[in-house]
This record gives sequence, C-alpha cells and structure tokens, in this order.
Amino acid sequence: MSKRIIIDTDPGHDDAFALLMALASSDELDVRAITTVAGNVPIDKTTYNALRLRELVGSDVPVYRGCARPMVNELVTAEYVHGETGLDGPHLPEPSRDVGPGHAVDYLIDELLGAPRAATTVCLIGPMTNMAMALVKEPRISAHIAEFVIMGGSFKEGGNVTPTAEFNVYVDPHAAHVVLASGVPITIMPLDVTHQAQATPERASAFRSLGDPVGSVVSAMLDFASRFDIAQYGFVGYPLHDPTVIAYLLEPDMFEFRDAHVSVVTDVGSTHGQTVADWYGQTGHEPNARVAMRLDADRFFALVTDRLGRH
Ligand code: RIB
Ligand code: CA
Repeated sequence: MSKRIIIDTDPGHDDAFALLMALASSDELDVRAITTVAGNVPIDKTTYNALRLRELVGSDVPVYRGCARPMVNELVTAEYVHGETGLDGPHLPEPSRDVGPGHAVDYLIDELLGAPRAATTVCLIGPMTNMAMALVKEPRISAHIAEFVIMGGSFKEGGNVTPTAEFNVYVDPHAAHVVLASGVPITIMPLDVTHQAQATPERASAFRSLGDPVGSVVSAMLDFASRFDIAQYGFVGYPLHDPTVIAYLLEPDMFEFRDAHVSVVTDVGSTHGQTVADWYGQTGHEPNARVAMRLDADRFFALVTDRLGRH
C-alpha cells in the first residue's frame, strides 16, 4: 500500500528534484497535495514554480498556496542561490491549471482530519510556516500525522545562512519550534547529511543522459544552482538537500540515524535559528527526533537518477 504524503515546499532547485522524484514514485508514494510556502523566493514565485513543475510531468496532484511570510520574522529569501524566479536555468512549461481553492493551512487541517489517525506523512522541505500555523489553528491534527520528515537544521556542519543556522529553520525558527514541540514523530535531514549528497560532475552526467524533457530540465537546474555552492563552500557539486527526504521515504536504510532532543534558538542574536541536538540526554528531555547523520551517496544518486528517469 502506498504511503500517504503531503509535500510542503518552497521551490527552489532542490525542491524541484524532490517533487519530480516523488511524482515518479506512485507505487510507493500517494502524494495527496503540494503546499507552497514563502522561502527561497516569495510565495507567488514558489507557487508558480510548483505549478510549472506539475505541468512538466503532467501530474494532477493539487497545489495549494500557503503562507507569504514567517510567523514572526520578516521574510528572508535566497535569490542569490536560486535566481530571481526561484528556478532560474531550465525552460519550464506554463501552468495549464491553477492552485486549488483556499489556503494551504486550511487544506492541511482538512486533509489531515479527513484521514485516519497517524495516516499521513508530512514532508517539510521549506520554512515550516504552513505546518506550524495549522498546528496552532487546529492542534488535533497532530494525532493524524504519522511522521514529519524535515529537511532542515544543522548540527556539526555549521549553517548555510549564518555560521550557525540552516536556511529553512533560519527563515522561520518559531515555526520550527512549534513543529519540534508537536509530539509528532520526526525524522530530520540536516545539512550534516545533505552536504554528503553533492551532485558531482559524474553524477550530473547521469542526469544529462535522461530522456527529455526531464533530463534537460534537471541538467539546466544543476548548472545554475551549482554556481553558488561551489563558489561559496568549495563543494564539488550542488547538494541535493530536499531529495534526501524523498529518498528516506523510499529507501530509509541508505541513512544512518541518531536520536536526540532537538530544539531551536529563537532568541535574537548570533545563534538565531540554530538547531541544538541533545545527543546525550544532558537537558533531561526525551529525544523528539531521529537525525540522519550519514547516507550512502552512491545509492542516493542511483535512486534519484532512477526516479527522475521514470518520467
Ligand atoms: O538549507 C537548504 C534548504 O533551504 C533547502 O530546502 C533549500 O531548498 C532551501 O529551502
Ligand atoms: Ca526547499
């Protein structure tokens, strides 16, 4: 039986890889909807990008437009990585269908309450504003969520926005706090593991050999998105952050995990948005998350290539 999932996203190049992987995995994943949030670029653009990606692969999965700004902080975006459109590089088709009715927060509440208890896995691959607002508006939904699978945070790797904070958590640390405190089972893909998933030239060449239109789209996305990370961090390729969430759903045993109580710094200051893992129980708090700290990168890229090639 396929796993019932919702993908909350701010496309974004790596989000695009994750969405294309998930939409090609219908035997294993029942994608109920895509909900968009402001993050890499403002909400109008993340939503437009989600609609264009859906059009690219002819999917009928509904898209719902979400929050335009974080719960407390002003919106911080990442055009310096993803370009003005949020998906600079590839040519993508214009959407033939629009977003679904209503706000993504209300969709999340209705969809989760309308499903059996613990029946739905929620994938959070952007700032967690929509999910946090839904939990605040209707706390009963937590009993209907099987697991949060989050791309976010960083522990031993340092930050990618500040020296201590990863982008998704930095943009909306208050939302991350609400999600981490929800009591829902949580699996986290932090920068510690996503930085092990760099699209080297050899791995990128496997994407180029995929049939069009997806092959040329993902190659153009990589060509564009790799620039910043290679220049900034000296990486050998663009790290595919968000696809690690989908890979976990499909082949969890390619990862190694550690349990920890994870919290987030919401105080204003140099550690704003930092995620803190209590690996050894020093705080007296029980673990609230399973944190992926290692992955089999060759197995990961074989899976990404296989799934993208199915379109
Ligand atoms: O820090 C990486 C995360 O921030 C990814 O989800 C990327 O898409 C951006 O949203
Ligand atoms: Ca993202």
